[in-house]
Amino acid sequence: MHTNIEINHITKKYKNGVTALDDISFTVGSGVFGLLGHNGAGKTTLMKTLVTILPPSAGTIRICGYDTQKQGNEVRTRIGYLPQELAMYPSLSVFDFVNYMAELKGIRNKEAVREVLEQVEMLEYAKRKIRELSGGMKRRVGIAQAIIGYPQILVVDEPTAGLDPEERVRFRGLLSRYAREGRTVLLSTHIVEDVFQLCEELAVLRKGHLFYAGTSAALMKQVKGKVKILHLEDERQLIDLQKKSIVLSTTYDRHGIHARIMDENALFPQATSAMATLEDAYVYCMGGKIHA
Ligand SMILES: Nc1ncnc2c1ncn2[C@@H]1O[C@H](COP(=O)(O)OP(=O)(O)OP(=O)(O)O)[C@@H](O)[C@H]1O
Ligand SMILES: [Mg+2]
Repeated sequence: MHTNIEINHITKKYKNGVTALDDISFTVGSGVFGLLGHNGAGKTTLMKTLVTILPPSAGTIRICGYDTQKQGNEVRTRIGYLPQELAMYPSLSVFDFVNYMAELKGIRNKEAVREVLEQVEMLEYAKRKIRELSGGMKRRVGIAQAIIGYPQILVVDEPTAGLDPEERVRFRGLLSRYAREGRTVLLSTHIVEDVFQLCEELAVLRKGHLFYAGTSAALMKQVKGKVKILHLEDERQLIDLQKKSIVLSTTYDRHGIHARIMDENALFPQATSAMATLEDAYVYCMGGKIHA
């Protein structure tokens, strides 16, 4: 597989002393690649260093073979970026905003603007003001400005957060279409379902450390056959269980609590086996139940 992104021993320490990334290394080929991690794990920091907005404190990154620090211009022409919070001009029309963003990239071509708006199904709203758009529409305009010029690599920071299920499905379609023909989409998210639907490969960050990088199939293998469901009477039993085993999730009903657990050493013969999901694998990776 062709390597589009090569991350070598990247560390990023902010001026306030926070080490947001600690010796991260992995590679990304073509297709949609998922970057998962809790709030503050370092996803946005990693993306900003990839797109040359932030310099790393140590380490190197190569984008399509070009060094992000020494060959910034070569890198920037090959990358499209949708930031987590894209600053948009509320009084501009959709067309004028995307056209303005295109001009910043040196692209003066109104037909190209219309083409990307068509791709994200926003051409019919081209004249509408940014402030009059729904959240999903804004996100699609965000993608339009990122894909203008069809860069080899598209970096999107939590593009599906806050979207309704229908819009999320539409968004997933858009990203997977873009990743065809050898392109790479690097997608950060909290939503394991998005990664499961879209990505063959993923990386998991945890407090600035790389916890996992590889295929979702290999990650699933770690939990296969070990996920069980255990019936509990009350919270006290749950607290007890959490001391002995990794609790992946819990559901409550009038009969008590159903705990989904990782039974690594077959300690619970009374538990029933369950089909492992990528969500289970992810929660296992993160060391237990996600506390919302
Ligand atoms: N400009 C900054 N100056 C100092 N510290 C920062 C800065 N930006 C982020 N951090 C810190 O770096 C760490 C990683 O933050 P980052 O925004 O990369 O996480 P994230 O994984 O994108 O989180 P989220 O899921 O909430 O978007 C956090 O501890 C954060 O507080
Ligand atoms: Mg972020």
